[in-house]
Amino acid sequence: MPYAQTRAWTIAPLLLVVIAFVAFSLPPYLTFDPARSRVPVGNAVRGYYPLLVAHVVFGSIALLTACLQIWPWLRTRFPDVHRRTGRVYVFAGVLPAGAIGLVIGALTPFGPVLRASNVVLALVWLTVTITGYRAGRQYRLADHRRWMIRSVVLTLSIITNRIWAVVWVIALMPQLQTTFGGNEALMVQSIAGLSGWLGWVLPLLVTEWWLDTRRAPESPAARPVSGQAAAGSRA
Ligand code: HEM
Repeated sequence: MPYAQTRAWTIAPLLLVVIAFVAFSLPPYLTFDPARSRVPVGNAVRGYYPLLVAHVVFGSIALLTACLQIWPWLRTRFPDVHRRTGRVYVFAGVLPAGAIGLVIGALTPFGPVLRASNVVLALVWLTVTITGYRAGRQYRLADHRRWMIRSVVLTLSIITNRIWAVVWVIALMPQLQTTFGGNEALMVQSIAGLSGWLGWVLPLLVTEWWLDTRRAPESPAARPVSGQAAAGSRA
């Protein structure tokens, strides 16, 4: 099978997972009916619900465009499309979703442990994405690639977060009367906090390890000299 064809479908499994996630997550918020929110908004401050809706819409754009950005076939065959969808990913996805995530993250009804995770994650997500975007604008393409891989991993961490939530619900529900003394709110906050932190810290650590192992062959001895090195970093 020719190279381009082998690569054309490699993104399919990830895309399917992302489409399923968005198809499940987004519709209740498109009704603009606070009663259908999966986050309790009854006691929230004014303006919280519209911000949550905006966050989910921009987050969905970030997730869907993230798949396009890391698709090798699209990147190599249609670099112009990669640039255009990249701008959508950054300016209509991560930046608005992350900025709003920072605000609603600080107001979360799910307790202080998730609050800390949300705020740190939003700041790291914004910083990593802006750094990757700037590297791309400056044609430091090796740097651009590394920072954007981190950015996309953080974007996808919304999905690993939900997987951890299922794991912790199964693990901790039977302990409601024992570990949590019958306090359901405490159990929900524990599940949310654990899922929040594990959802993004673990994938980011694995990504750092993966990026490091791939950096290894670029030892000083193996690196091309002067002008060639600069050209190599734009490959
Ligand atoms: C990666 C940085 C992100 C941060 C810091 C963040 C933060 C938040 C916060 C604070 C909430 C309100 C619930 C709570 O208090 O925990 C929330 C809800 C939500 N977020 Fe994000 N979010 C991020 C990424 C995303 C992405 C990429 C999506 C993709 C669609 C997304 C989709 C949602 C949805 C659907 C909800 C509503 C809860 C639900 O219906 O399951 N978020 N997010």
